[in-house]
Amino acid sequence: MQSLLSDESDPIARMANLAALLHQEMGFWWTGFYRVKDEELILGPFQGPVACTRIAFGRGVCGTSWKERRTIVVPDVEQFPGHIACSSESRSEIVVPVWHHGEIVAVLDIDSRELNTFDAVDRKFLEKAAALIYGPQRDIWLAAGCFWGAQKFFKLIEGVEYTEVGFCNGWMKDPTYEQVYTDQTGHAECVHVHYDPAMVSLEKLVRLYFQIIDPLSLNQQGEDVGTRYRTGIYYEDEGDREILSREFLRVKESLGVEDMPVELLPLSCFYRADEYHQDYLDKHPDGYCHLSPALFSLARSRNDLP
Ligand code: SME
Repeated sequence: MQSLLSDESDPIARMANLAALLHQEMGFWWTGFYRVKDEELILGPFQGPVACTRIAFGRGVCGTSWKERRTIVVPDVEQFPGHIACSSESRSEIVVPVWHHGEIVAVLDIDSRELNTFDAVDRKFLEKAAALIYGPQRDIWLAAGCFWGAQKFFKLIEGVEYTEVGFCNGWMKDPTYEQVYTDQTGHAECVHVHYDPAMVSLEKLVRLYFQIIDPLSLNQQGEDVGTRYRTGIYYEDEGDREILSREFLRVKESLGVEDMPVELLPLSCFYRADEYHQDYLDKHPDGYCHLSPALFSLARSRNDLP
């Protein structure tokens, strides 16, 4: 996909070829884009049978993905309230937002004639595919103690397009919050940050990260104690490790220490926490937060850090 798109910068041409490639190679029923225009989604480049041309904000799977600013996997379209059936053949669906400068400008919609076609692996790689349209966007996973405050902090940084909270680098598959809370699953509470490197660098994200943690505290941030509250940065691209190592060294030198208990590891797994925990402090402004209000002003400020 990357090489197919690299010769062409026009986003509609990129959408057209991406839809064609996915459709041909994967054998989906319908593969295409809806583009945001004014207050609705309008049919864009696609492959497959004719489709509805306009979808309102918050309507159908596409409008819901736009409204909720996240990928939506629908194992059975009949179970999705408000699903728009452009074709009665469609049984399951995935809709992935396409980001540009912090805004959703389109969605990638894929329909299948089988139930349960799309899983977490499809989601992960289709998000990467969608990011290529205006890309290349990047991802990093940051554990900074309780994830409620950390998500609020990272969301405020200009250039951060999407965040979600979850559990990473443990050994139990698909743990619940309650299981992670026992400290027996090995996971850390963390924030998945999807960002536009043209607007915010990894260095800046890491420097901001070190403002919200105590890098010398092992398994405790604020009042929260346990291995689930350990600190760490987890990457997917080896290329990021070099940048991260440099920043870690800089922090250690400034603290005058040889070691600090902040993990720097490849991401081995990430499980999204349930909706109750997503954007928790937006939903509960007076909820518990271990970070001071001054830190949120720092995240909002557009100044470069030293
Ligand atoms: N099912 C979509 C509408 C678009 S078609 O699948 C092509 C939805 O509910 O938003």
